[in-house]
Amino acid sequence: MAKFLARGAEAELYLDRLVDRRVATKNRVSKGYRIKEIDVPLRRSRTRGEASLLHSAKEAGVACPVIYEIGKFELKLGFIDGVLLRDFIKNRKGRGIGKVAEEVGRGLAKLHRHGVVHGDFTTANVMVSGRKVFFIDFGLGSFSKDAEEKALDVLLMKKSLGNERLYGSFLSGYKQYEKYKDVMNQLAEIEKRGRYVVRSWVGA
Ligand SMILES: Nc1ncnc2c1ncn2[C@@H]1O[C@H](COP(=O)(O)OP(=O)(O)O)[C@@H](O)[C@H]1O
Ligand SMILES: [Mg+2]
Repeated sequence: MAKFLARGAEAELYLDRLVDRRVATKNRVSKGYRIKEIDVPLRRSRTRGEASLLHSAKEAGVACPVIYEIGKFELKLGFIDGVLLRDFIKNRKGRGIGKVAEEVGRGLAKLHRHGVVHGDFTTANVMVSGRKVFFIDFGLGSFSKDAEEKALDVLLMKKSLGNERLYGSFLSGYKQYEKYKDVMNQLAEIEKRGRYVVRSWVGA
């Protein structure tokens, strides 16, 4: 029997079993505020897109869930026995979180080097399991060479870390990205402009 795990902005997650494996079934639910002609193709393309981006993230060497099955609106993913980075930061009260933030930065460097933008890169879309950091929820991601899109990943993480010291640790990991300076210049530009649109805020 599937057990309810979590409800995100787009999907419901259930813990299930596939033979001897624990899987997290991510089901993109219908949104009543969207007309059907938009809702159905959007859920389908985000499901496919997420699978494709997860695959690329794996190629990039970033830890993320394994894909077991791809359905129309549903993905069966490897279950991550961990906590959200958001809760990890809240509960650890400083112990070891600098190292974890640095690891998150290193992961983002690998992702961006590989041409993948996460698109909703917050502490609610990163999980910590033991000492390992997993990136989840690629539903708003894209393949992009654009420094501005990459800068938005950095900006969202900066805002959701909400702490200069942790952000510093995160950047010390992200610095491994060869185009670090370009992205940071772009970020400074966005912050100066003080106006930007993040896909997850639009709520399409
Ligand atoms: N592979 C996984 N293993 C364990 N828990 C997961 C997994 N994927 C998602 N979750 C849990 O489900 C929640 C929502 O998943 P997420 O992919 O972020 O959906 P949404 O797109 O709706 O935000 C996450 O915050 C996390 O708690
Ligand atoms: Mg999410």
